[in-house]
Amino acid sequence: MTQAATERRAVGVVRILIEARAIQTRIAELARELDDHYGSDIPLMVGVLNGAVTFMTDLMRAMTIPVVIDFMAVSSYGASTRTSGVVRILKDLSEDVEGRRVLVVEDIVDSGLTLQYLLDVLRRRNPAEIRVVALLKKEKGEAADVQVDQVGFAIPDEFVIGYGLDYAGQYRNLPYVAVLDPSVIDDVEV
Ligand code: IMP
Repeated sequence: MTQAATERRAVGVVRILIEARAIQTRIAELARELDDHYGSDIPLMVGVLNGAVTFMTDLMRAMTIPVVIDFMAVSSYGASTRTSGVVRILKDLSEDVEGRRVLVVEDIVDSGLTLQYLLDVLRRRNPAEIRVVALLKKEKGEAADVQVDQVGFAIPDEFVIGYGLDYAGQYRNLPYVAVLDPSVIDDVEV
């Protein structure tokens, strides 16, 4: 780590896990695979707010096929770093998914409970196809057996921030993915 790189780090960041350039390189690969997968069809990209916004906007611009976008918001951890397992829809889609090829864009799959819930909701609306792309997937034993078709990076089971991911609403604007200093974490269950 150079002095300049150290100075660029946000307060609370202990280790940069994935540099900004590596994220963009991987996104270009994922986008090429998606272009090939959909061919002349127009997928409905469903971004999961708020965390997937950064990934979604970079991913869709790296794709060359036409896409339609929409967003859903589900309850998140709040100020905790562990999932409660209780998922609520805070904002639903504007688009009808029936008969369409839906691409769910997620920031991170941790326990997989959020994604599992979301996929159950979407499947009941009879899409022609559901595909899931997640930027990050934590390597952990107890994760739900949930559908994820493309993963940007498999990461260790640590709490990460940046590139859309937050802790207590902060750090989403960092261009890299980093590990948060445990001393910053006030781990209150919500
Ligand atoms: P899951 O239901 O446990 O898979 O968690 C999914 C959601 O929790 C993600 O969409 C994120 O919003 C959030 N999340 C999980 N792990 C992290 C993390 O390490 N940092 C920040 N947010 C996370």
